[in-house]
Amino acid sequence: TWSMVTFIQDSISKIKEMVGDQKAICALSGGVDSSAAAVLVHKAIGDNLTCFYVDTGLMRKNENRDIKRIFDEEFHLNVKFIDARERFLSKLEGVSDPERKRKIIGEEFIRTFEDAIKGLGDFDWLVQGTLYPDVIESAVSVGGKAVRIKSHHNVAGLPEDMKFKLLEPFRNLFKDEVRNLALELGLPEEIVYRHPFPGPGLAIRIVGEITREKLRILRDADAIVREEIFNAGLYRDVWQAFAVLLPIKSVGVMGDRRTYSYPIVLRIVSSDDAMTADWARIPYDLLDRIARRIVNEVDEVNRVVYDISSKPPATIEWE
Ligand code: XMP
Repeated sequence: TWSMVTFIQDSISKIKEMVGDQKAICALSGGVDSSAAAVLVHKAIGDNLTCFYVDTGLMRKNENRDIKRIFDEEFHLNVKFIDARERFLSKLEGVSDPERKRKIIGEEFIRTFEDAIKGLGDFDWLVQGTLYPDVIESAVSVGGKAVRIKSHHNVAGLPEDMKFKLLEPFRNLFKDEVRNLALELGLPEEIVYRHPFPGPGLAIRIVGEITREKLRILRDADAIVREEIFNAGLYRDVWQAFAVLLPIKSVGVMGDRRTYSYPIVLRIVSSDDAMTADWARIPYDLLDRIARRIVNEVDEVNRVVYDISSKPPATIEWE
């Protein structure tokens, strides 16, 4: 739209003026806010912007590859890919409490980010895709998940001697405005309409202890859920659609053999803002196809269940 074009042009000249020849960094997650912020700032200051993408080992299938393709190969952003899988997985070993998982991941993210920056000289600015509702939220809420949602990428955890100025070009925008802006910037729909994905990633979708084997199972099951929802043309109609792995086993039968494996929970919800949510009325045939594919294609899964709880009293995630 015309107003978006104007907004983009104005923002670019403001950012140029503010940042000048100084250097900026950003943490790229693949979410629409950080992606659009990175692309916009890159338009203004070019390679004086360095983006970091941290592979925590808790990302979804093909996520690293897609981020590389879009931001490195198509948009030519200066992206540093950090393989931190070992770090995160060893810190999470034996941990099953959801809040401890979140805390460990949040802290480890900051440490990893910090280590990555150290080797690269001085930076003056930190780019964040903070939206207007985030500004309001962090101003008013104390405790609870609302605060945690953005804490993952928050400078609050960075050491005192790293004093960045914050560059937050979307502080006055709402989500739908950032989506329009992202489209205008040429970002692909897979980023623009991407479902929310929690900072702690797959860690909070493996109920209980995280292992490599469980990550493999969940990643494969989750990819099938997303693929089928997308192919059915429902991706934009639902708020989130994902798989959850439970720490129990149940009996099944395959061929002439008894199995004893994990169940996968399908969690597909509709919502406007994640404050409340309802389970999505997915056609039976589609549920059937997803369930069959998961049991057939993912080793160590012999059962699929559909979560028909709304929020409240349940939450969208299982942890
Ligand atoms: P719940 O499970 O509380 O989730 O109904 C509401 C929305 O927030 C997302 N979520 C998180 N996002 N870090 C995040 O960045 C977190 O720790 C976290 N926990 C939940 C969830 O995916 C849903 O969209």
